[in-house]
Amino acid sequence: MANPFCALHLHIMYRIFRFFLFCFSAETVHHIIAFALKVARYVPFFGPIQRALFTFRSPLLEREVMGLKFKNPIGLAAGLDKNGELVNEFSNFGFSFIEIGSVTPNPQPGNPKPRCFRLIPDQAIVNRFGINNKGAKTVVQNLKQRRRRPIVGGNISKNTLTPNEKAADDYEKAFLRLYDYVDYFVINVSCPNVENLCQLHDVDLLSGIIDRLTEIRRCHDEYRPILLKVSPDLSYEQLNNLIELILISGLDGVVATNTTTSREGLRTSPERLQAIGKGGLSGAPLKQKSLDIIKYIHNKTEGNLPIIGVGGVMTPQDAIDMLNAGASLVQVYTGFIYKGPGFVRQILKKIVKEKV
Ligand SMILES: Cc1cc2nc3c(=O)[nH]c(=O)nc-3n(C[C@H](O)[C@H](O)[C@H](O)COP(=O)(O)O)c2cc1C
Repeated sequence: MANPFCALHLHIMYRIFRFFLFCFSAETVHHIIAFALKVARYVPFFGPIQRALFTFRSPLLEREVMGLKFKNPIGLAAGLDKNGELVNEFSNFGFSFIEIGSVTPNPQPGNPKPRCFRLIPDQAIVNRFGINNKGAKTVVQNLKQRRRRPIVGGNISKNTLTPNEKAADDYEKAFLRLYDYVDYFVINVSCPNVENLCQLHDVDLLSGIIDRLTEIRRCHDEYRPILLKVSPDLSYEQLNNLIELILISGLDGVVATNTTTSREGLRTSPERLQAIGKGGLSGAPLKQKSLDIIKYIHNKTEGNLPIIGVGGVMTPQDAIDMLNAGASLVQVYTGFIYKGPGFVRQILKKIVKEKV
């Protein structure tokens, strides 16, 4: 008898499920799924069944990056588990690491709704959430409750109302709060949905933030790698300046890239794009931009700077392209929404098959 849970069946089941989910707004679906996953915690054997269906282990997948041991190179990108509430549940979908956040020192509601839109013909999403999150204190409470221990990255940012000149105070507060509860940090200055945040790519402003965080790290016994998440919309000159700053300031790596403000080459009609308005674009149309930036950073640093590649991974081959371009690890967000819970396992199987 055919296995009812083979990859093809799971894929078809998800396509049907997705058809119904996509009848609701993207943000509503997010809340439904998050609620369902929280309820499922109380269903006996749900976690082990989820792991049996979606995880895939092989010694060929193991990676050591920045001193951390990853069971496989695929992680969940920031933005899906903003408050660190579902770290175990997402790791049961096969991810070896979960990046929570972005987390700001104080809670904030983000931008008015609607603020998240699917561009189905482009396999993409536009969002302008504006870093809505429950604040660092609540996130720590959530992280204290997790039972299993996948690697957790703390993606931190400043509160929207904090002016850029005082941004370092915010990054410091979030960093200090999360220090004992995450395994690495990401400085997010690249979210296009918070006014003027991207100005923090400026080397002078950014070095103020980095100096503070590395100074605090020196006072701790446990070392936490710190990475910088960059925008795909930077010029190569800006990128050169950032690479230089990263190398001299003791940062441990780069996350490349965040969402783009570009709308170039989309199939979605100009009328619909205009109706949606501003926001960061993720998914398939971002892939080439992210890939180019990963290749550029890898070549420029002669492979000496760890890169977490993210942006437009919609097929297992996309993930392999990122690894081949020089990424040590790869993250997924939009691909997971479109391809479903079996996506990570598909990627991992292909990595093993192709011995990447
Ligand atoms: C709805 C949504 C919310 C996001 N929120 C954040 C965030 O809070 N912080 C952050 O650094 N990146 C955030 N991102 C960006 C993702 O982490 C990722 O860099 C980007 O989506 C590109 O990857 P993808 O094409 O696989 O989605 C968000 C992305 C989406 C789609």
